[in-house]
Amino acid sequence: MKNFPIPRIDKDTELHDMLLKYCRLSEGDIWIDKKNNHKVGCIDSNNLNDLKKLFGRKKAALALHDPPYNMVAFQESDADEFVEWSKIWIENSKALMQSNSSLYIWLGADQKNHFQPFAEFILMMKETEFKSRSFITMRNQRGYGTQKNWMSIRQELLYYTLGKPQFNIENVYTDIPKVLKGYYKEVAGKKTENLERSKSRNIRAGNVWIDIQQVFHLLYENVNGCFAQKPLKAIERVIEVSSSKGDLVIDFFAHSGTTLIASEILDRNCFTIDIDPIYCEISIRRLENFRKSGKRGWQNSNPFEYEIKKDIKLKKYLFDKYEIQFDKSK
Ligand SMILES: C[S@@+](CC[C@H](N)C(=O)[O-])C[C@H]1O[C@@H](n2cnc3c(N)ncnc32)[C@H](O)[C@@H]1O
Repeated sequence: MKNFPIPRIDKDTELHDMLLKYCRLSEGDIWIDKKNNHKVGCIDSNNLNDLKKLFGRKKAALALHDPPYNMVAFQESDADEFVEWSKIWIENSKALMQSNSSLYIWLGADQKNHFQPFAEFILMMKETEFKSRSFITMRNQRGYGTQKNWMSIRQELLYYTLGKPQFNIENVYTDIPKVLKGYYKEVAGKKTENLERSKSRNIRAGNVWIDIQQVFHLLYENVNGCFAQKPLKAIERVIEVSSSKGDLVIDFFAHSGTTLIASEILDRNCFTIDIDPIYCEISIRRLENFRKSGKRGWQNSNPFEYEIKKDIKLKKYLFDKYEIQFDKSK
């Protein structure tokens, strides 16, 4: 089995800069997919002019954002600064969304720091035209802080709406089996138990999801080099429920391109951006690789394998620093 991972690109600026020359886009550029008209832009979420160039006249049925917090951009800053910044991309989203549309935002809460920026963020949202609809919790398999605190295993997903958007929950079932008995009802004179009456052995999606594995290196969808990937299954669930085939889905923080791949799989059109050319390139390559091979990530490889093998300097760098050998298959 070949094994050519690369480390987190955000943590190694030298590696980041060495990979830049293999990226198609630089600041302000837009890549247009010839096959299904997806677009990837190297654009700042807070730059409405650039966003408008990317969108033209199109408006989204669904916006699905996973902003950086406690990562590169906000390592040193506080919740207020994050929220001030967020206000702008929320307004930008609104400008590019249909009058009946849905907005989902992944947002962490720092339990060691008064759960920021969660509280500040939801208060900021109160001042916008978006209506709050749900607060979804996705349970991770693995957590942290198991000795001195409740194991932290949650990811938070906020759901807001504009107008009256579609909500196609009818046939969206989880992989969580129905186990609870005891909801009896008389049907045609016979006492029936809820399992007998149900259409499916599994429960429908509520606002707690415990059937989605977080992305880690052994999963096929893993994209080596990235650090904040959301599971495709979660993104697909949101897209299925809050949009229809052909609709435009947008994501301002593409990173590994999860929303782009999920949109491709589900026949939606996707416009996505990232401020960093590296993640724009990774998103485009993930789509291309998916079309070519059917693979949703690079479990044992990475998006730049081809170039690294030919680039003596880069290859040497990865070997000297991380002992990754791009010449050998394991
Ligand atoms: C948490 S990651 C998103 C992960 C993504 N949902 C996935 O599944 O791969 C955040 C991304 O936002 C990008 N980013 C940070 N600031 C940005 C900005 N102002 N505009 C656009 N993208 C930005 C970062 O480069 C990073 O790739």
